[in-house]
Amino acid sequence: MRDFKRYLVTSALPYANGPLHIGHLAGAYLSADVYVRFMRLMGKDIVYIGGSDEHGAAITMRALKDGLTPQEVVDKYHDLFVKTFENVGISFDIYHRTSDPLHHETSQDIFRTLYKKGLFTEEESEQYYDPEVNQFLADRYIKGTCPKCGNPDAYGDQCENCGSTLSPTELINPRSVLSGSEPILKKTKHWFLPLNDHETWLREWIEEGTVNGEFKHYPDEWKNHVIGQCKSWLDGGLQPRAMTRDLDWGVDVPHDVPGHEGKKLYVWLDAPIGYISATRQWAKDNGKKWEKYWKDDDCQLIHFIGKDNIVFHCLIFPAVLKAHGDFVLPYNVPANQFMNLEGAKISTSRNWAVWVHEYIEDLPDKIDELRYCMIKNMPELKDTEFTWKSWQDANNNELVANLANFINRVVVLTNKYYDGKVPAFDEDASFTGSSGDDSEFYDSEMLSLHDELQELCQSIRTFDFRSGLKSLMDISTKGNQLLQYNEPWKLVKEDPETTKTIMNLAIQYVYVLGVAARPFMPETSDKILALLNIKPLKEKGELLKLLDKLCEGETLIKAKHQIGEPLHLFSRIDDSVVATQMAKLVKEEPTPVPAAVATPTSKPLRDPITYDDFIKMDMRVATILAAEKVANADKLLQLTVDLGFEQRTVVSGIANYYKPEEIIGQKVTLLANLAPRKIKGIESKGMILMSENSDGVLKFVAAPEGAENGSQIS
Ligand code: MF3
Ligand code: ZN
Repeated sequence: MRDFKRYLVTSALPYANGPLHIGHLAGAYLSADVYVRFMRLMGKDIVYIGGSDEHGAAITMRALKDGLTPQEVVDKYHDLFVKTFENVGISFDIYHRTSDPLHHETSQDIFRTLYKKGLFTEEESEQYYDPEVNQFLADRYIKGTCPKCGNPDAYGDQCENCGSTLSPTELINPRSVLSGSEPILKKTKHWFLPLNDHETWLREWIEEGTVNGEFKHYPDEWKNHVIGQCKSWLDGGLQPRAMTRDLDWGVDVPHDVPGHEGKKLYVWLDAPIGYISATRQWAKDNGKKWEKYWKDDDCQLIHFIGKDNIVFHCLIFPAVLKAHGDFVLPYNVPANQFMNLEGAKISTSRNWAVWVHEYIEDLPDKIDELRYCMIKNMPELKDTEFTWKSWQDANNNELVANLANFINRVVVLTNKYYDGKVPAFDEDASFTGSSGDDSEFYDSEMLSLHDELQELCQSIRTFDFRSGLKSLMDISTKGNQLLQYNEPWKLVKEDPETTKTIMNLAIQYVYVLGVAARPFMPETSDKILALLNIKPLKEKGELLKLLDKLCEGETLIKAKHQIGEPLHLFSRIDDSVVATQMAKLVKEEPTPVPAAVATPTSKPLRDPITYDDFIKMDMRVATILAAEKVANADKLLQLTVDLGFEQRTVVSGIANYYKPEEIIGQKVTLLANLAPRKIKGIESKGMILMSENSDGVLKFVAAPEGAENGSQIS
C-alpha cells in the first residue's frame, strides 16, 4: 500500500438505455462510493468521476424499440440516473455525459493524436449493409438463423438461445433489423488499434506491475479474478480492434482525418475517455488543473467496474492511454462480480430485477438499509445473491437489534441519568468490574477501539468492503456488550462513579460509530451524530483526526457536552413489506422460438456439460394431485404434486397439451431442486420434465412403472 498525492476514482459509465438495477449498484457504484467517502474522511485529495455512456448500439437499439430519437433516449435515462444516484447517496464529484461537446472534443483529440502518431492501421473489410435504408449494420442490427442451434432470431454477435458468440457473416439467412431486408456485403475502411503490438508490455504491466521495469502498482493488490481474466485474454492472443464504426450516432471521427465521412468512434474507445472529459469539466468548474489527475505519476487512478468490463479497462483503454503517451495507467481495477436476484440472474429483458428508482419510490426511508444489505452481500470476489428475505433479516437482526439498539440505549440512559450531559468520571475511582482502576479500564478500551477502527480502515483500503462493514458492526456489538456486562441501569445505584465511566465510554463508542458508518451509510452517520448533537461530517479528514485522537488517548466527546434526544435509527421490517416486493417480481418467459421457422427436425445437442453439472440435478418421481388453470395465462397450469415426503405447487406450461381434469393421478418426473420462482405471482417449486415432438407438442416424461413418489431418478 503506497500513499499518493492524489486519487482519481471512476465508476463505469452506465449505458443510458434503461434504468439502473441493484446489480449495477452493487457492482460499480456502491463499492466506489464507500471507497471515496472513506478516502475523503482520511483527508485525501480525491476526485470521484461518473457519467452516462450515451453512444453505441445499446442506445440506438433502444430508440428503435421505443420509437424515440437517440437523443430523447439518452436525455430520459441520463436524467433518471442523476436522480437515482443522488437518492442512494452516490457521491460523485461530477456526473457527466458523453454527449457533451467537451467529451466529443476530448475523444477526438485523443483519436487525432493516435492517428498522427501513426498508431492505427487502416484496414478494408466487408461489412453488412442495408441497401434499403443505406446504412451499415452494427452486429446487433443483423438477425438470422444461428448456425449452431437453429434459433432463427440470433443476433450478429451472439445467439441468446445457445449462448454462442457469433460474427454476422456466420448467420444463416441474415436480415436487417431496420428494414427486414437481406443485407449485402459492402467494402468499408476502418482504423484499427493493433492490440497485438501491445501484448508484451500489457503482460508485464498486468503480471509484474511494471512497465519497462518501472514500478506502476503491486499486482498482489489486484483481485485474482481480474488478473485471471486479463491473462486468459493475453494467452488467447490479442487481435487488432477497430476503433471506428459506420454509424450515425456517436462521436465523429475528427474531420481533419481524410476519409472521416460517415465514421464514428467505436463506443468502447469514446466511453472510457469520458472519464477524462468529466475530469476536465470538474476541473473547469472548480478552478483545478485536470492534468494533475491524469498526467502526473503521483495520482492513483482506480476504476470501479463490473466483471463484464474488465477487458476494456485492463487491456484496451490502457493500450490507448499508453499509446497516447501522456496519461497515467490505472493503479487498480477492483472489478466486482455479479449479484443475482432470488435464485436467478438479473435480466433486464425478462424484467427480473429490482429497479433502483422503484425501490426509492416504494421505500424512500430505507435507503441506508439497501446500502447496508448490498455492501454486506457485495460480489467482491464471487457472484452473490440478493433476496428480499436477506434484506429484511439484515435490517431486523443487525441494524435494528444491534446498531440502533445500542445507540438508543446510550442516548436514553444519558438523558435519564445525566440530563443529556456527557458524564465526567473520577479517574481514580476503582472499577468494580475489572482489576485496575476506572482510568486504566477506560484507556485500554479506547485503545482497542482504535485497533478495531484501524482494521475497518484496512479492509476498505484493500477493497474488502464486506469486512469493513463487519468491523463496523463488531464495534457496535462491543458497545452492546459494554452495557450488557456492566448493566449501568443496575450499577447506577451501587456505584454511580463507575457508571459514569461506562456511560462516558459508551458515548465515545457512539461517536466512533457515527464517523465509521459514514462511508457505508451516510444518512445514518448524520443521524447518529445528530443524536450526539454534533454536526454532520463534511468528509474532510474527520476519520484521520479521530484515529489520531484515539492513538493519543484523547477523549473524543468531552465531559459536559450536551447530547440530543433519543430517536429510532432503524425500525423493523414486516413480512408484508417483503411479500409486496416479492409479488412485484414476475419472471417473464423469453419469447419462444416459433416452431414453424425452426427447421431442424431433431434439435442439435446443447453444449456439453460435466458430470458435476449433471449430478446437481435432483429428479424425483411425483404424482399430480390437483391441477387448475392459471388466471390470465393461457399456457399455464398450476399443479399440486405429491413427492411422498412433501406436497408442493408447480406451475407448468402445459395447458395447450393437457386438460387439468385428465392429469389428476398422473405419475410424472420432477426436477425437484430447481430454485423456486414466481410465475404469475404463484411460487413454483420445481419443473416437470416434458418431451417435445417435432411438431412442438409436449408430453410428460413417464415415470417408471411402479415407482414410488419421491424416488430419485439418476
Ligand atoms: N456502458 C458500459 C456498460 O454499461 C460501461 C462503460 S464504462 C466506460 O457496460 F469506461 F466505458 F465508460
Ligand atoms: Zn444458437
